[in-house]
Amino acid sequence: MAHIVVTGGAGFIGSHCCVELLKKGEQVTVLDNFCNSSPEALDAIEKITGVRPALAELDLCDEEKVNAFFAANTVDAVVHFAGLKAVGESCRMPLAYYHNNLTGTLNLLRAMAANGCKTIVFSSSATVYGMHNNAPFTEDMPTSATNPYGWTKQMIEQMLMDTVAADAAWSVVALRYFNPIGAHPSGLIGENPNGIPNNLVPYVARVAEGTLERLSVYGDDYDTPDGTGVRDYIHVVDLAKGHLCALDYAAAHKGFEAINLGTGNGASVMDVLHAYEQACGKTLPYVIAPRRPGDIATSFAAPQKAKELLHWEAQSDLLTMCRDSWNYMCRRQQNG
Ligand code: NAD
Ligand code: UFG
Repeated sequence: MAHIVVTGGAGFIGSHCCVELLKKGEQVTVLDNFCNSSPEALDAIEKITGVRPALAELDLCDEEKVNAFFAANTVDAVVHFAGLKAVGESCRMPLAYYHNNLTGTLNLLRAMAANGCKTIVFSSSATVYGMHNNAPFTEDMPTSATNPYGWTKQMIEQMLMDTVAADAAWSVVALRYFNPIGAHPSGLIGENPNGIPNNLVPYVARVAEGTLERLSVYGDDYDTPDGTGVRDYIHVVDLAKGHLCALDYAAAHKGFEAINLGTGNGASVMDVLHAYEQACGKTLPYVIAPRRPGDIATSFAAPQKAKELLHWEAQSDLLTMCRDSWNYMCRRQQNG
C-alpha cells in the first residue's frame, strides 16, 4: 500500500481520484483548504468506498504548515490538483491566481524535496496549447497561454521541468486535461460550482434542472461542422483512472513527461446540448450569442501518448457523461 497525498482532493476531479485510489487499496491523505469545495466531499468518498481518506486541512500557500506536514508523514507520491481554475476570474484577479497556484506549488515542491518525496502527478490543462496550434493537439506542440490561469499551468510545467533537469531523482507527470465533465455513477460526487457556471456542462445542467432559463451558445459561425465550438469532453471517472496509471508510470520512470488526457474525439456545443436533452428527457432552450473572447474553434487531444506510456484510454461516451451528470443533479435535488 502506497501513501498518496492528494492536494485539492475535495474538489471535482480530486474527489473522483480519491475514490479510485481508495478502491485500489492505497492510503490516501487529502490536503485541501476547502476554498472551492467542502468537507462533505469526504463523507461522499467514504460512502462510495467504505474508507475515509485522512485529511490535512491546510492552505498550500502556508509554507510552514506544508513543511510540517511533509516532515511528519512518509509520502510515496503526490497528486497535485489544488489550484484556482476560473479563466475569467484569473483575468480580474491575476495576482491572486499567481499567488495561489505558483506559491502553493513552490511550497509543495520544496517541502517534498526537503523530505525525500520526489514523485508528483500534476493537473495541467489543454489550455497550454494556446490559440495557434491545430487539433489534434500533440504533446510536442509549442505551448503558450492567453490568460493568467493558463500562464500558471505553463509556468508550473516549466518549474517541474527545471526541477527534473536539476535533480534526476524526480519522477514527474504533467497531465494535460481536455474537458472533464460528468460525475461518479453513484451520484454522490460531481461538479457543483458556486454561482452561475462558466463551463458548458454545468450550465446546461442548471438549465435542465430549471434554475437557469436558457443556454447561450457562444458563436455558431466557427469553422466547425455545425458552426459551434468543438471540445474533447472526457468523463471525470476516466480522467481519475488516468491518474492511477500516471502514478504507476511515475513509480517506474524518472524524469518529466507531459501527457494528454482526452478521448481524441471532438463534440460541438450542439452535440452536448442534444446529448444532455437525451439524458434528462427534456428539450433545453438555447439562444445563439456572440463568440466568447479567447475561445478557439476546435480543441481535441491526440490521445496516443497516454495509450503508449500509461496504457490508458478513455472509455465513456458523451451520452454516459451527460447521464451521470444528470443523475448527480437529481440526487442533489433529492437531498435538498
Ligand atoms: P476544484 O476547484 O473543484 O478543485 C480544486 C481543489 O483545490 C478545491 O478543493 C480547492 O479547495 C483546493 N485548493 C485550491 N487552492 C488551494 C490551496 N492554496 N491550498 C489547498 N487547497 C486548495 O477544481 P477541479 O475541476 O477539480 O480541478 C482540479 C485541477 O485540475 C485544477 O488544478 C485545475 O486547474 C485543473 N484542471 C481542471 C479542468 C476542469 O475543467 N475542471 C481542466 C483542466 C485542468
Ligand atoms: N460554451 C457555450 N456557452 C456557455 C459555456 C460554454 O456556448 O455558457 C461553449 C464555449 O464557447 C466552448 C464550449 O462551450 O465552445 C466549452 O466551453 P467550456 O467553458 O466548458 O470549456 P473551455 O474549453 O472553454 O475551457 C475548459 C476549462 C479551461 C481549460 C480548458 C481545457 O474551463 O480551464 O477547458 O482544458 F483550460
